Amino acid sequence: MASPAHVIVLGNEKGGSGKSTTAMHIFAALARSGHKVGAIDLDTRQKSFFRYLENRSIHKQKHSYTDQELPMPLMREVQASDNVDRDVAEQEELERFTAAVQEIYGSCDFLIIDCPGTDSYLSRLGHAAADTVITPMNDSYIDFDLLAKYDPYNEEIIGPSIYADMVWECRKLRAESELPPLDWIVMRNRYNPNIDRAKFSVSEQLTKLSQRIGFRVAPGFAERMIYRDLFLAGLTVLDIETPDGDPSAREAYLAARREIGDLVSQLRLPGFESDNIA
Ligand SMILES: Nc1ncnc2c1ncn2[C@@H]1O[C@H](COP(=O)(O)OP(=O)(O)OP(=O)(O)O)[C@@H](O)[C@H]1O
Ligand SMILES: [Mg+2]
Repeated sequence: MASPAHVIVLGNEKGGSGKSTTAMHIFAALARSGHKVGAIDLDTRQKSFFRYLENRSIHKQKHSYTDQELPMPLMREVQASDNVDRDVAEQEELERFTAAVQEIYGSCDFLIIDCPGTDSYLSRLGHAAADTVITPMNDSYIDFDLLAKYDPYNEEIIGPSIYADMVWECRKLRAESELPPLDWIVMRNRYNPNIDRAKFSVSEQLTKLSQRIGFRVAPGFAERMIYRDLFLAGLTVLDIETPDGDPSAREAYLAARREIGDLVSQLRLPGFESDNIA
C-alpha cells in the first residue's frame, strides 16, 4: 500500500439514524470489491458495528468460509476512559485512539470509523481524523434539527446546529493543516421509496442547507427489512445470493444492492471503482 487509508467516519449526534448499518454496508461494498478495510467502533457502549462484525466472524468460522468468500476488516478496539478527571480521561482516549488508528492506517485502503449517537470526546477525535464524514438522517424535522436551526413560521434556515458546527470546526482544522478538504455527505436513511422525494419538504430544505453549510446530499437507503434482517449472521445483502421464489424479496434485494452501489459511488472514494461491487 503506497498511501495511507482514506478515513470514512459515520457521524450524527441523533441516535438511531443508521450510522452503524451504513458503516457495515459500506464496509461490505469496499471489502467485496477487493479493498483492504480497517474498522474502529467509537460507540463504546452499544458497539453495534463491532457486534455486527463479530456475528460475521462467527458465521464465517461456522461455515468455513475463506477470506475471499466472506471478507473481514482489520478491527481495533478503543476503550473509553473511566478516569473521573476529564483532562486525564481525554488524554487517555487520545492516546488509545491514536494507537488504534496507527495500527490500521498504513496497512488498509480504507478505515471506517463508526461514532456514537451522542457528543463525546472520542466522537470528536473520530471526526477530526476524517477524510469523508457520512451523516445518515431520517426524513424528519427532528433529524434536520441536528443539522440546522429552522424557523417554521418564516420557513427558513436560521443557521447551523451544534453538530454542523463541529464538522465545520474539523474542516477548518484540516484546512489549517493543508490537508485536502473534508468531504461531508448527508444521506437519507429509512426513507419511504413510495414518496416523491422532490415534493417532500425535508428534502427541499436539505438541498438548501447543503449549499449553505457545504455538504453533499447522497442517495441513501430506503426502509427495507433486508438492511436489518441479516445482522445476526453478520451478513449484508452484498454477501448473499439473489433470493429465488418470492418476487418482492427479489425486488428488495436488487433495490438494496443498487442503493448501496449508488451511495458508495457517490462517495467518490480514491481508488474505488463502483463497478467492482461483487
Ligand atoms: N434502511 C434501513 N431499513 C430498515 N431498517 C434500518 C435501516 N437503517 C437502519 N435500520 C435499523 O434502524 C435501527 C437503527 O440503526 P443503526 O443502529 O444503524 O443506527 P445508529 O445511528 O448507528 O444508532 P446509534 O446512534 O444508537 O448508534 C436498527 O434497528 C437498524 O437495524
Ligand atoms: Mg450505532
